[in-house]
Amino acid sequence: MATLLGETRQRFGDELVCGLTAESLGWLLDANARDADTLAPPTHLDVLQSCIEAVVDEAVPGDFVEAGCFRGGQCVLMSGVLKALDDSGRTVFAADSFGGLPEPDPRQSPDDAVWYHLLGSIGRFGATLGEFEDTLNRYGLLHGGVRPVAGWFRASLPDAAIESLAVIRLDCTFYQSTFDTLEILYPKLSKGGFVISADYGAPTGARRAVDKYRVDQGIDDPLIRIDGQGVLWRRAD
Ligand SMILES: C[S@@+](CC[C@H](N)C(=O)[O-])C[C@H]1O[C@@H](n2cnc3c(N)ncnc32)[C@H](O)[C@@H]1O
Repeated sequence: MATLLGETRQRFGDELVCGLTAESLGWLLDANARDADTLAPPTHLDVLQSCIEAVVDEAVPGDFVEAGCFRGGQCVLMSGVLKALDDSGRTVFAADSFGGLPEPDPRQSPDDAVWYHLLGSIGRFGATLGEFEDTLNRYGLLHGGVRPVAGWFRASLPDAAIESLAVIRLDCTFYQSTFDTLEILYPKLSKGGFVISADYGAPTGARRAVDKYRVDQGIDDPLIRIDGQGVLWRRAD
């Protein structure tokens, strides 16, 4: 983990200027069009795997959650790595509306409102629960260790049987979805656990939500850049 984060820092420096590039937008549109299991590029898979290996290796307590699991590719990785590491004590919570993005309030998030309409042409990430389960099934990972949490995050996540977390992957696209998720889940994150914000560099409101939540809560654990889209931090205390 230390090595990987070190290499990442070396490659990108500590500067956190993310942004949607033609390359990252092209990747996302292509992945969506060919029904890829995840819209994220391979770097995100490497980093998620490293986070999981670190928390298992260091016995950081807690389950894993992805908020915005879509077709389920990242949950496949979470569950698959746990299986490979012979760790059967953790649950992977997979949260999504399983019906696509919510309509944002344009007065609060004009950036999100614009993207809500633009993303209409590609279905606003509306994968169903059946599609999510098909993905898990293809990898032989459709079992009780992966639990879907269906509905809008603000309503569904407080009722999910999540006691403590070691990895939180946020891929919620919009400001309100990201902020709601942090408010509900971050207090459950164990010391030594990770938050990955997969879409921090996107032109939507995810970054505003992450920045506001960190400022509000006085979180100064360093943000580490994954690539032009993603960042992560590790909870020190
Ligand atoms: C960009 S997609 C996630 C991509 C996925 N993580 C991957 O790796 O392919 C965003 C997902 O967040 C979900 N989403 C966004 N806001 C939500 C909310 N407030 N409640 C429930 N689901 C939400 C959408 O339904 C969509 O599936």
